[in-house]
Amino acid sequence: MAWTLARRAHAMNPSVIREVLKLTERPGIISFAGGLPSPRTFPVDAFAESCARVLRDDGQGALQYGASEGLPLLREQVADMLPWPVDPAQVLITTGSQQGLDLVAKVLIDPGSRVLVENPTYLGALQAFAPMEPRIEGVAGDDEGLDPQALRRAAGAGEAPRMLYVLPNFQNPTGRLMSDARRQTLVELAQELELPLVEDNPYGELWFEAPPPAPLSARRPDACIYLGSFSKVLSPGLRLGYVVAPHALYPKLLQAKQAADLHTPSFNQRMVADVLRDGFLDRHVPGIRALYKSQRDAMLAALEREMSSLGLQWNRPAGGMFLWVRLPRGMDATELLPRAVDKGVAFVPGAPFHAGEADPRTLRLSFVTATREQIDAGIARLAEAVRAYPLRQAA
Ligand SMILES: Cc1ncc(COP(=O)(O)O)c(C=O)c1O
Repeated sequence: MAWTLARRAHAMNPSVIREVLKLTERPGIISFAGGLPSPRTFPVDAFAESCARVLRDDGQGALQYGASEGLPLLREQVADMLPWPVDPAQVLITTGSQQGLDLVAKVLIDPGSRVLVENPTYLGALQAFAPMEPRIEGVAGDDEGLDPQALRRAAGAGEAPRMLYVLPNFQNPTGRLMSDARRQTLVELAQELELPLVEDNPYGELWFEAPPPAPLSARRPDACIYLGSFSKVLSPGLRLGYVVAPHALYPKLLQAKQAADLHTPSFNQRMVADVLRDGFLDRHVPGIRALYKSQRDAMLAALEREMSSLGLQWNRPAGGMFLWVRLPRGMDATELLPRAVDKGVAFVPGAPFHAGEADPRTLRLSFVTATREQIDAGIARLAEAVRAYPLRQAA
C-alpha cells in the first residue's frame, strides 16, 4: 500500500536526542546525553501512600473519565503555587508540558506563520511546532538571555510573529538564566511590538543559590501563556503539566485539549493532588536542589581538572540539569560524538537545538543522572576524545 502522507507528517522529524540515546545503550557508556531527572529524586513512598489513599477514598472517580480542564483541586493547587495572582479557571492541566506546547502550536500557528524562538532552544518545542509548518526563526542571546536588540530586528523583519517561545529559567539546552533586567526589557519590548510570549518553565524550582527573578508572566499576565510541569519536581512518568492562559485564549486551548486526549489521566491527577497536600513540594524540592548542585559542582570540578588546557569553554549554570560547552575552533561536536562514544562517553551535540544558524562547536552535558564517580570518569574520557580529535579536521 502506498500511503500518501499529509504535509504536516513530512514536517515531523525524529528526535536527534533519541538517536543519540540509542548509542548510549551500548554497555559501559557513561551518558551525559539524556534529559532525564535523577530517579533518586522520585518520591516513591509518598506516591505509594497516595495511590492507596486515592483508591480507597475516591477509587471510582480516579478510574472514571474527567473534565478536560483538569481536576478542580489540582487546578487550585497550581494557581496557589504560582508567584502571581492566577485564577484557577485559567489553569489547564495537560499531559506533560510537552502537550502544552502541542496545544499552543495548534491554536496559534498557521502554515507559514512566523514563530520566534531563542537560539538555541528546546528541541521538543521545535518538534511540537514543526507539524503546523511555521517559519521558525532563532533569536540570538548572550549569558543574560535573549538579546532585546536581536529580538527587535527579528520581530520587525516581516509579518507579525505569532509568538516568541522563551525559557527564562535554566534553559534547555544551555542552562542559562535570564537576568531580572533582561526580563523586564523583554516584556516591555514585547508589549511595544505586540508580541505574544509563550514562557516555558519546567526547571525554575531547581535553583542552586537563589530563586530566579519573577517570571515574564507575572510581569504581564495578559500577554503570556505560561507552561509548567511536575516532571522535574515529582516524576516525569506521570505526565503531568499545566498551561496558564489568558481568559480570552483559554477556550481554544481547551478545545484543542479535548480533541487531543479528552483529559489528562484522572488517577494521576488525583495522586499528585494528594501528594501536594500539606506543602509536600516545600519539603521535597530542597533535596533535589542539593543533589543537583553537588552534581553540577562535581562536573565543573572535573571539567576544570581535565579540560582547562584544551581550549574548551563552559558555563556555570545556577540551576537546572544542563551545562553548555563550546569546543575549540575547528572542532565539530557532531563529529566528536562517535569518537567520544568509542571512548565510552556520550553527550548531545548542540546543533539540533538551533533554529537557523547553528553553532557546530556546542554540546550539552546533563549533570544529574550520572554518579560522581561516573562524572569524573566520563569527563576524563571526553577529554581523551577531544585530545584525539584529528588535527586535519581543524579549520
Ligand atoms: C524546556 C522543556 N519544556 C518542556 C519539556 C517537556 O516536559 P514534560 O515532561 O512536562 O512534558 C521539557 C522536557 O525535558 C523541557 O526541557
